[in-house]
Amino acid sequence: MKTDDIRQAFLEFFKSKEHKIVQSDSLVPMDDPTLLFTGAGMNQFKEKFLGWNVTYKRAASSQKCLRTGDLENVGGTSGHHTFFEMLGNFSFGDYFKKEAILWAWEFLTYNLRLKGENLWVSVYKDDDEAYDIWKDVIKVPKEKIIKFGEKENFWPSEAPTKGPCGPCGPCSELFYDYGKDAGCKNQTCAPACDCGRFVEIWNLVFTQFDRQADSSLKPLPSKNIDTGMGLERLASVMQGVKTNFEIDIFKPLAGEIQKMARLTTGRSGQAWQGTSANAIADHIRAVTFAVSDGVMPSKKSAATW
Ligand code: SER
Repeated sequence: MKTDDIRQAFLEFFKSKEHKIVQSDSLVPMDDPTLLFTGAGMNQFKEKFLGWNVTYKRAASSQKCLRTGDLENVGGTSGHHTFFEMLGNFSFGDYFKKEAILWAWEFLTYNLRLKGENLWVSVYKDDDEAYDIWKDVIKVPKEKIIKFGEKENFWPSEAPTKGPCGPCGPCSELFYDYGKDAGCKNQTCAPACDCGRFVEIWNLVFTQFDRQADSSLKPLPSKNIDTGMGLERLASVMQGVKTNFEIDIFKPLAGEIQKMARLTTGRSGQAWQGTSANAIADHIRAVTFAVSDGVMPSKKSAATW
């Protein structure tokens, strides 16, 4: 399935569930002094999570995102990017955990036809409600439901202890399992292992708190849903390739760079050859989208302005 078709299928699925399809916001958020770049689908909906200006209660989008936190990993791993698209569905005081989990499962297993037995999930260690929905409603076997702490299963990560202040909540992630023959081949391999057997594809955030400066978690006026699924990563699963750089929208770009620079490709152990071509392909996309959203490149650093 082509990347464009996956994006379309996602938006149509949530339109059929009465979501308003919202255009991607600019990579440079207009009214948010706390952000340099848009890094998540929920950014443009922040005020709605706080209960302000809720003119619609359900939304879905494919958001252009730019994240610099993973810059050093880009090209050297199968799926890190600076620029990527994030598919997301959002509820502002409307549906909550049960619908978010049911629809995520329905979209992946019915619409995209991924096999349920290839999916594992994680939940926040204290979130019995999400755990029970996966176990009793979706019928995911207990051994495929992993409990993690606030580093892995709270969004933003570690918000309760480290911040930032603002909307946050426990989350539940879905992982695609490439099978026992992939990665480290260890019998005990599970989503916490970074061998490549498991790839995280969807993060369902149950946004129910407003983190305060004193670290307390104040319940939001209403409970919300914020989900994020990396389009390029999902495309790599759907297209049966091992890295995002081999999907239909990346391959021509990375391939042309490899040809021009006479680089060799292939996999050797865990080290990806062709790393530089992949990194350049990623950065070209990031720069192109940033410039088209009004960012002007300069050799001066912001500090000297
Ligand atoms: N905000 C969450 C994330 O970025 C889910 O969309 O992962």
